[in-house]
Amino acid sequence: TTYWKVLATEDVDVKGLAKAGELLRQGGTVAFPTETVYGLGADARNTEAVQKIFKAKGRPSDNPLIVHISHRSQIEELAAAPNEAVSRLLDAFWPGPLTVVLPVKDGALSPLVTAGLDTVGLRMPDHPVALQLIEAAGCPVAAPSANRSGRPSPTRAEHVREDLAGRIDGIVDGGATGVGVESTVVEYTADGNGDGTGVLHVLRPGGVTAAQLRAVLPGVEVREASAHLSEPSAAPRAPGMKYTHYAPRGVMTLVQGEDPERVLARMQRELDEARARGERTGALTFREHADALCADHVVACGSLGDLETVAHGLYAALREFDEAGVTFIIGEACPESGIGAAIMNRLRKAAGDRVIEAD
Ligand code: TXA
Ligand code: MG
Repeated sequence: TTYWKVLATEDVDVKGLAKAGELLRQGGTVAFPTETVYGLGADARNTEAVQKIFKAKGRPSDNPLIVHISHRSQIEELAAAPNEAVSRLLDAFWPGPLTVVLPVKDGALSPLVTAGLDTVGLRMPDHPVALQLIEAAGCPVAAPSANRSGRPSPTRAEHVREDLAGRIDGIVDGGATGVGVESTVVEYTADGNGDGTGVLHVLRPGGVTAAQLRAVLPGVEVREASAHLSEPSAAPRAPGMKYTHYAPRGVMTLVQGEDPERVLARMQRELDEARARGERTGALTFREHADALCADHVVACGSLGDLETVAHGLYAALREFDEAGVTFIIGEACPESGIGAAIMNRLRKAAGDRVIEAD
C-alpha cells in the first residue's frame, strides 16, 4: 500500500495526487479524505477495480456504492438529468455531504457499483484533496467508506491503515475529516402524495440535516428515514441501512431520557453491574458529563452544546473502545435535532438497537 501525506489541504501535493489518480485510472484502489469520512476509491466503470473494493472491505455485494464526481457536468454521462427539485438541492449543497439517487444510464458504470439497482447515488465531495484526486483520475470514482465492513468509518488516515493496510493499493492522507459522519442520501419520487407534489426520501441521515433540506425545498415533503432499525419504513431504503454497521467490538447499549441526572445515574448503574460481572467497561458521553461517570474507559465525545463536535469525533471515539479492550459500553444518547439525527442513527446501529429509557 503506497502512502501519500498531503499536509496542507490548500497546497496539495500535486505530484502525489497525480500518481494516486494514475493508480485509480489503472484499476487500483486508493483511500482518500472527504469532508465526511475517508473513502476507498476505484474507477466506477471498471468492474475488476470495483471488485477490489468489495474484497478489501469484506462488503456484501448487494450493497451499492456511491459514485464521486468533481464536476456537475459529469452527471450527464452517468444518470438521468436531475429534475427541478433535485437541481435546487445540488445548487444548495454541492460540493458537500449530500448524495442524490438518480436513475442510472445504461452501461455507464460497472453493474457492481449499483448492486443490480437501476439507480446510482452521486456525490460531489467538498474537500480539495478529494476533488483534485477525482480530477487527476479522470473517471467517476466509486467510493464507500474506507473501513473493513462492520467497523466504524475512518475519519483519519490511521483508521484506514488499521483496517486496510496491505489490502489496498494506496492511501492519501489529508488529515482528519471535518463533518465526521457520512453524507445524507436522498431520493426524490414524484408519486408521493397523490396530489402532484413529490416526496424527498431521506434514505440515510447525514451531514446535511432535514431542516436544511426543507429550507431549500419548501413545497416538497421531506420524509425522514425511520429512526429505529426494527421499524419498517415507508421510504425506499438504502440497502446499506440493513447491515449492522459501525459496530465497536464491545457490546454497546444506549441510555436516553429527558432528565440528564437520571440518564447518568442509569448509565452508572449499568456500568457498576457490568464491572461486578467482570466486564471491562466503557462509557461514551459528552464533555459536560465526563466527570460524572466512572468506568474503565470514559470517552468524552464533543459537546452537547455543539453537536457538530460530537459528529466530528464519533467514529474515533468508537474505535478508542476497541483499542482499550472494552467489552461492555454504555453510551449516552443526544438530542435528535439537526446533525443529532445522523449521530443517533449511527449510535443506534453501533448499539444494535439496544436502547434503555432512563425515565
Ligand atoms: O459520506 C459518504 O457518503 C462516504 C464518503 C466516502 O463519500 N461514503 C459512504 O459510502 O458512506 P458507503 O458505501 O459506506 O455508504 C453508501 C450508502 C449505503 O447505505 C448504500 O446502501 C446507499 O448509500 N446507496 C448507494 N447507492 C444507492 C442507491 N442507488 N440507492 C439507494 N441507496 C444507495
Ligand atoms: Mg460505510
